[in-house]
Amino acid sequence: HRGLLGLAGLAPHEILFLLDEAEQWVELNRQPTKRVDHLRGLTIINAFYENSTRTLLSFEIAGKRLGADVVNMSVGQSSVKKGETLIDTAMTLNAMRADAIVIRHASSGAVRLIAEKVDCPVLNAGDGQHEHPTQGLLDALTIKRAKGEFVGLKVVICGDILHSRVARSNILALTALGADVRVCAPPALMPADIERMRVTPYHDFDAALKDADVVMMLRLQNERMTGQFIPSPREYRHLYGLSVDRLARAAGDAIVMHPGPMNRGVEIDSNVADLPGRSLITTQVEMGVAMRMACLEVLTRKARKLEGWQ
Ligand code: CP
Repeated sequence: HRGLLGLAGLAPHEILFLLDEAEQWVELNRQPTKRVDHLRGLTIINAFYENSTRTLLSFEIAGKRLGADVVNMSVGQSSVKKGETLIDTAMTLNAMRADAIVIRHASSGAVRLIAEKVDCPVLNAGDGQHEHPTQGLLDALTIKRAKGEFVGLKVVICGDILHSRVARSNILALTALGADVRVCAPPALMPADIERMRVTPYHDFDAALKDADVVMMLRLQNERMTGQFIPSPREYRHLYGLSVDRLARAAGDAIVMHPGPMNRGVEIDSNVADLPGRSLITTQVEMGVAMRMACLEVLTRKARKLEGWQ
């Protein structure tokens, strides 16, 4: 079985294949009746060990729109609270004969550990600081629909790069597709191995923004900080917040993105987050449902005795 643990190792044609597959679901989701029966009879389990609004709900909606039975494991009410290990939980879900398992976990690598123990495809819904592959794909889909072409596109990703699985998955997808990726962060929030990521690092946000086509803002992940020196919210906004004035340094038709959840008035001003025609933050959410439908449909083809992919 093949899951989606990360975008590392996916070839550009595999990423583009998944983006193309999502287009049909964007169209379906815009119809009054948004349901097909491709996954009828299949069971999908969502197991989220960390909080989520967008990813959990869009995976649930995606599975239901494809006709699957979708079950959300409520970690807070589960036997995880009685000390059951991750592996015992995985084996329990496996014995229930899930056809796909979607996992979010605070530890990098936890999703891979589960994938090694179960018989069905596992989809990574975000593991620690490692990857958030469906977010990388939905962001790439949003960019493709807005800009058409990835090669040479100037994309700025600004914020807490160090802790961001969203940044990692976006960097992997966008560099594979030929974009010119600039990452910008305070020194304490820039990964030490950034030079290996085929991106241009910046600490000066104004310099990073020059002529940018896409500006992607990330929040400070306070829950993952381990003593890094970071500016106060007011200083952070001054140095790294996206304001209307600052956005003027980017290309005149630059789009603004944010994976959510946003901290308005810290990394992004409200009037930028809501800028008509330029902010695609709600479009990202819409693309998230379609992209997750594509991933679930493609990854369960084998279980449905259809040709696998690629
Ligand atoms: N972008 C994202 O992963 O949001 P949630 O944490 O709400 O799922």
